[in-house]
Amino acid sequence: MAIDALGLHDIDAFYGDSHILQKVSFALGEGRLLGLLGRNGAGKSTCMNVVVGLLPARGGTVEVFGGDITRLPPESISARGIALVPQGRRIFKSLTVRENLMVAARPPDPGSRHAPWTSETVFAMFPRLAERKHQLAAHLSGGEQQMLAIGRALMANPRVLLMDEPSEGLAPQIVADVMATIRKLKESGLSIVLVEQNPRLVFDVADDIAILNGGRVAVVSTPAELTRGGIDLTQHLGVY
Ligand SMILES: Nc1ncnc2c1ncn2[C@@H]1O[C@H](COP(=O)(O)OP(=O)(O)OP(=O)(O)O)[C@@H](O)[C@H]1O
Ligand SMILES: [Mg+2]
Repeated sequence: MAIDALGLHDIDAFYGDSHILQKVSFALGEGRLLGLLGRNGAGKSTCMNVVVGLLPARGGTVEVFGGDITRLPPESISARGIALVPQGRRIFKSLTVRENLMVAARPPDPGSRHAPWTSETVFAMFPRLAERKHQLAAHLSGGEQQMLAIGRALMANPRVLLMDEPSEGLAPQIVADVMATIRKLKESGLSIVLVEQNPRLVFDVADDIAILNGGRVAVVSTPAELTRGGIDLTQHLGVY
């Protein structure tokens, strides 16, 4: 049986006394794209925070390519090849575009089959960032900041890329650019989790879908199955 790139198994997570994630399980196959859907407050970002070690799980396990990362600190998890493009982008606004990339640089694993990401390859992918490499990140547009957040995550040469609502707050044309970028990254062989509130955006690009509702996995399916109907998406996603 193939080993999953990422697996969450019966994850329980709390903020203080609030029990947020309840026995959450889902898996991302190598080279696949999993769309993680759910309305506001469903627990999507909490899942991402657990995977990257910012919020330690109280129960369950997280595995990356078959290795248990559940109790590791964030820097060790990053070294296992997981990178997060956080919700709200969180770029360093007082640094230049190039500096934002360089602080995240990490050499690829020895034996990696892919050409390593460097500031040059990131700039080749995002020419708008190349034109602005010496400008402060604070001066970028929302779309450019999102490109920078994606580029910064790639600089760690991840094997698994987590993207938390990368289209949030962007104009439709820019959202289309971001989706085209995600498609290219998938074609390069990266294993990707794409967190979204809008199923229309992910159905096109995802291989698999998991829907969170109230901190639990309500649905695990595929875009084809979900567009065929049968599952009441409105119940889990509200009006969309
Ligand atoms: N730092 C925190 N402290 C306490 N509760 C939190 C914290 N962060 C999130 N929560 C709560 O945890 C629940 C899940 O939040 P989470 O941010 O994971 O949702 P989400 O699915 O990412 O939503 P959105 O689509 O709005 O980003 C919500 O009820 C939220 O209010
Ligand atoms: Mg969120």
